[in-house]
Amino acid sequence: MKNIVILLSGRGSNLEAMLAAKLPCRIAAVISNKADAKGLETARAHGIQAAVVAHAGHASRDLFDAALAAEIDRHQPDLVVLAGFMRILGEAFVRRYAGRLMNIHPSLLPAFPGLHTHRRALEAGCRVHGCTVHFVTPALDNGPVIIQAAVPVHADDSEEALAARVLAQEHIAYPQAVRWFVEGRLSLGADGRVRLAGERHPAAALLVPEPDADRK
Ligand code: GAR
Repeated sequence: MKNIVILLSGRGSNLEAMLAAKLPCRIAAVISNKADAKGLETARAHGIQAAVVAHAGHASRDLFDAALAAEIDRHQPDLVVLAGFMRILGEAFVRRYAGRLMNIHPSLLPAFPGLHTHRRALEAGCRVHGCTVHFVTPALDNGPVIIQAAVPVHADDSEEALAARVLAQEHIAYPQAVRWFVEGRLSLGADGRVRLAGERHPAAALLVPEPDADRK
């Protein structure tokens, strides 16, 4: 069975979704850069090792990244899962975990990398918004797309309503992507393209819920 390590900075609802999905892998550890991250409590409650590597204790990004990598490598993970990990990781870190570092971002990348994605989608007048799971490359919120989920944007949406609609899809898309990886069906090819065996790719990798699913 494959080992995964999950990195997070806060709430940890994507961690909860992975726990609920009963993935065929071992969550060897949950690591946070914030000691008060709720996700750490969730990990402990499930008997999963929870560790903190605080960025405040390190003089530079490189030193923080090195301490984080040392903590991760203790668990020898097959996959490192960024689940709301809100620190930018340096190029050396990203290269160290090339092909086994995954992220979820709350937009349909390449639209809206960075913060406040839901507000920006509303301001831009988007009719469609969503989330993206991707392999991580050195560019922020960028890299080969594994799965996306698209949701409608309603004329009267608040930022919160739209965020909740996207989050519900994150909780489906991210466990699916991790499941594919730990089942050995998903990989990043040397050509930088995503390989997915045994699914009608790319159809399986696009989730489109019923337009009014959250309004019934
Ligand atoms: C999620 O919406 C995730 O997509 C986002 O942080 C939230 C974490 O929620 N990630 C990013 O913005 C990464 N750039 P969670 O802690 O409840 O899983």
